[in-house]
Amino acid sequence: MRTALIQGSGGVGSALAQTVIDSRMYDQVILAARGQWQLQDVDGVTRSVPLDLTSDESIDRAAKTVMSWCDRLHLVVTTAGLLTDLSRGIAPEKKLSELSRASFHQVMDLNCIGPFLWLKALYPVLKHREPIVIATLSARVGSIGDNRLGGWHSYRASKAAQNMLTRNLALELGRTNPQAVVVGLHPGTVDTELSKPFQKAVSPDHLFTPTQAANYLWSVIQTLTPAESGAVLDWNHAVVVPLGQRPRASGVDTECGGARG
Ligand SMILES: NC(=O)c1ccc[n+]([C@@H]2O[C@H](COP(=O)([O-])OP(=O)(O)OC[C@H]3O[C@@H](n4cnc5c(N)ncnc54)[C@H](OP(=O)(O)O)[C@@H]3O)[C@@H](O)[C@H]2O)c1
Repeated sequence: MRTALIQGSGGVGSALAQTVIDSRMYDQVILAARGQWQLQDVDGVTRSVPLDLTSDESIDRAAKTVMSWCDRLHLVVTTAGLLTDLSRGIAPEKKLSELSRASFHQVMDLNCIGPFLWLKALYPVLKHREPIVIATLSARVGSIGDNRLGGWHSYRASKAAQNMLTRNLALELGRTNPQAVVVGLHPGTVDTELSKPFQKAVSPDHLFTPTQAANYLWSVIQTLTPAESGAVLDWNHAVVVPLGQRPRASGVDTECGGARG
């Protein structure tokens, strides 16, 4: 039995879930979210589970439900993302003086900590030896090397941290499953709630509809190879370079941290 799990019913999440359902490649497509999914089931393959990534209790409950429905997952995508929520005082900072502990925590919690605690809770059904793709929706602005404008401190930092955890999980799963692929995906600029306040600066041909973005991402997901595990890739399957330069050829990590001590 092949099972896909999509988290997040927002613009990109709903469109991607629809694309995955329409592909008919999975026996079941599990949808995990707080919100309402905008999609049509095909052949009755979907199952839904409530999930709030900012609550450990919700994560544990949802993961238990998922694991009661399948003993292994083959596609896992998280699409949670927070950039602006004026009701909670969260807005992308233009300068350092706008940085606040409270909003930084909330952005980090949803964009980085929650998705990886979700993957941790699902670990028993991720750790197998069949092909699996695990993708978290990232953003080009999480690239340190590509950052030429500054600002957006919390969002950029949360996505950069998310990209590091992606690389770490790729290394960890790759040790026991050479067929596992763990990536971050940048969807492009997509016409959703998240990008609405910033769309004026985007030319219409660079603003994707959620369906367009989902089709691009699906095409990337289907053509991923294990050699790409740990990378962040954009909608066009190009690498989003984390540091703007290639790692040294020796690949030796001179810092003392890391799983190998
Ligand atoms: N739109 C863009 O231009 C753009 C560009 C670059 C990167 N991205 C990234 O793409 C991803 C999808 O963004 P989008 O454009 O689809 O944004 P969106 O329509 O605003 O959706 C936001 C997503 O965050 C989820 N979410 C919010 N609070 C949550 C919580 N407490 N627990 C679980 N999920 C929560 C929502 O899921 P539920 O409410 O259903 O739970 C929803 O799926 C994000 O990671 C974003 O950073 C977007």
